[in-house]
This record gives sequence, C-alpha cells and structure tokens, in this order.
Amino acid sequence: MTRVAVVGAGRIGRHHARLLTAGEVAGLELTVLADPFAPDLDELAAGLGVSRTVRDPLELAGDDGVDAVVITAPAKLHPELIEAFAGAGQHIFTEKPLGVDVASAARAAADAEKAGIVFQVGFNRRFAESWVNAKKAVEAGVVGSVQRVHSLTRDPGPFGADPARIAAGTVFNETLIHDFDTICWLNAGSEPVEVYAVADALVAPQARESGFQDSAVVVIRFDNGAIATAEASFCAMYGYDLRGEVFGSAGMVQMGDPTNTAARVFDASGMHADTRGTDESRYHGAYRGEFQAFADRIGGADVAVPGAVDGLRAQWIAAASIRSAAEHRPVGIDEVK
Ligand SMILES: NC(=O)c1ccc[n+]([C@@H]2O[C@H](COP(=O)([O-])OP(=O)(O)OC[C@H]3O[C@@H](n4cnc5c(N)ncnc54)[C@H](O)[C@@H]3O)[C@@H](O)[C@H]2O)c1
Repeated sequence: MTRVAVVGAGRIGRHHARLLTAGEVAGLELTVLADPFAPDLDELAAGLGVSRTVRDPLELAGDDGVDAVVITAPAKLHPELIEAFAGAGQHIFTEKPLGVDVASAARAAADAEKAGIVFQVGFNRRFAESWVNAKKAVEAGVVGSVQRVHSLTRDPGPFGADPARIAAGTVFNETLIHDFDTICWLNAGSEPVEVYAVADALVAPQARESGFQDSAVVVIRFDNGAIATAEASFCAMYGYDLRGEVFGSAGMVQMGDPTNTAARVFDASGMHADTRGTDESRYHGAYRGEFQAFADRIGGADVAVPGAVDGLRAQWIAAASIRSAAEHRPVGIDEVK
C-alpha cells in the first residue's frame, strides 16, 4: 500500500482526500493532510479517518511515512513543492499546471524527470469516458488524419469569485491548460508551433481595467498542419460544460455532454435536460481513473498518463496564449520556450 500525503487542503485537495479515503482507489492510503492555513485541518482529517496533519508541507519531504504526495496547493507553489518531493525521491501526483510560467514549469519537469519517480499531472479529462473513447477512435484511424481539434471549458455559473483574488493568466494557466493538454493528446505525434489568443473580461467587465480575463478563445497551429481551437468561460449559467471534437480526413469524433443524463423530459413548455453540475459531480469517474492510474504505475504497471513533458507542452501553449492576447499577434511556441 502506498502511503500518500495530500498537500493543500483547499477545494480540490478536499475532494481528492475524500476520494482517496472512500475506498474507490486500490493501492493508495491517505495518511497525512498538509496545509499551512486551512483552519479546520484537524477536523477535516479526523472526519476522513486520517491520523496526521502538518502545517509545513516541506516537513514531509523525505519523511519515512510518506511514499507519495498529491500536490493540490495553489499553482504558483507547484514548482517548489515538486522540487522538494522529487529531490527526496517521493512519487508525485501534481494538480495542473506545472507552474505559472515556462521557466518554473521547465524546472519542475526537469526535477521530476531526473528523480526517476512516478510523476503525473492532474489532466483528468484524459480519463473521462468519452475522451477515452475518442482517443481510441483517433488511434484506430476512424477520423483519418487529424485536421481540426476543438475543446471547450465553461465553468458553472453564477460567477461568485472576487476577480482581485484570481491570479493574472488563470484562464490560460489553470482553465484552458486542460484543453491544451487534451488537444495535444488527441493530435499526438505533432508539436504546437503557433498560437493566437483573444481574451477579455466578459463575465466580470467591471474588472477589465485591472487586466482580469474570464473568457478566451485560442487558435493553435500544429506541425502536422492541424488547426486547433480552445475556448473557455468562467460562467455558463446552465451548468458545467466540457466538450470537444476531433475532425479529420475520414470522419469526426465528439466528446463531452453538457447534460447529466441522456433522459429528456418533454412537457408543455418544451424539452428539458438536467445540465447543472460541477467538475466534482460530473467528472468523479475521471478523477478516480487518474488516481487509479497513479497507483497502478507506482505498483509497476505500464499505464499511459500525462507526465512532465505533457505538463510542459501545455504550459508553452498557455504562455504563448498570454503573450498573444497581450500583444494582439500570433506568437510562436519557440518564442516562449
Ligand atoms: N484538475 C482539476 O479538475 C482541478 C480542479 C480545481 C483545481 N485544480 C488545481 O488545483 C490547485 C488548487 O486549486 P484549489 O481550487 O483547490 O485552490 P484553493 O485555493 O481552494 O486551495 C489551495 C489550498 O492550498 C493551501 N496552501 C497554501 N499554501 C500552501 C503550501 N505552501 N503548501 C500546501 N498547501 C498550501 C491553501 O491554504 C488552500 O487550502 C490549482 O493548481 C488548481 O488549478 C485542478
């Protein structure tokens, strides 16, 4: 059994801690919760049956009782945490992104590779049922040669966050980073070469002057000729909406569904489908799948997962998008590497 520490007990750290203690992932045992600030850390741990909490996560680097860590701290801290745990030879599952800029992400990727550990980035969309099947269809040649990939992320509204507390570049570094990874994964074997991005504050226009961005569209050109598009919004009033499409010389495959069920209710006012949802409710199976893959790889299985190279490639696209949106021009990936 691999003994795991969750490092960062915020929203997604709590979700992952609940998942790891629910008996749904074989081979991982949550033994420590670490967070310098969460006021209810001890109560949270007690409620999950986790006996140990620490306030200084770096204390766990090299700790004999921790074989692996799940990093769910804020994005800007990922590189230093990866450096510490990789340096100590502990396996790492890190939430996306690797960092908030290419330099720190590249250092994190190098630290992870050098350490010879099991290292995985939390691109959970790769484990969602329809994306798994889309990948199989692309690999089987069903769409032929890939010409277009489209991917979108719309977070459920209403948007209730304070824009001042959201780091610059978040729509690219933390939201669209999923789409960037998915697009590269579905257009495997080719590299992104150029990006053009447009971003704005359409959901919270009052924050536009501070540089806040909540909506973005990105065009990505690849060296195999494929053209990809990715779009994101922080507020879809109808629910959580992740979808995608791969189109090629022989056909097309579509992924994602904005509804929770295939049931359609028809009444005097029309046809209805339940679209309310969140990442936690709609993508539970994908989160479970990514942790099972992490456990299986630690156990020696040869399972394909998003790793350091994938995290860095997605970060290049995010960085090029940030520059492109700021400078209103296409930006080559070589400019940000
Ligand atoms: N894959 C996904 O679907 C998904 C979903 C949500 C968030 N995320 C990612 O997970 C990360 C965390 O997001 P969140 O929404 O949970 O943020 P959050 O702000 O809710 O939680 C972050 C937590 O980290 C703690 N923290 C601060 N400094 C720390 C340190 N040095 N060491 C350990 N913990 C520290 C904070 O106290 C807080 O409890 C981000 O990188 C985000 O992009 C991924």
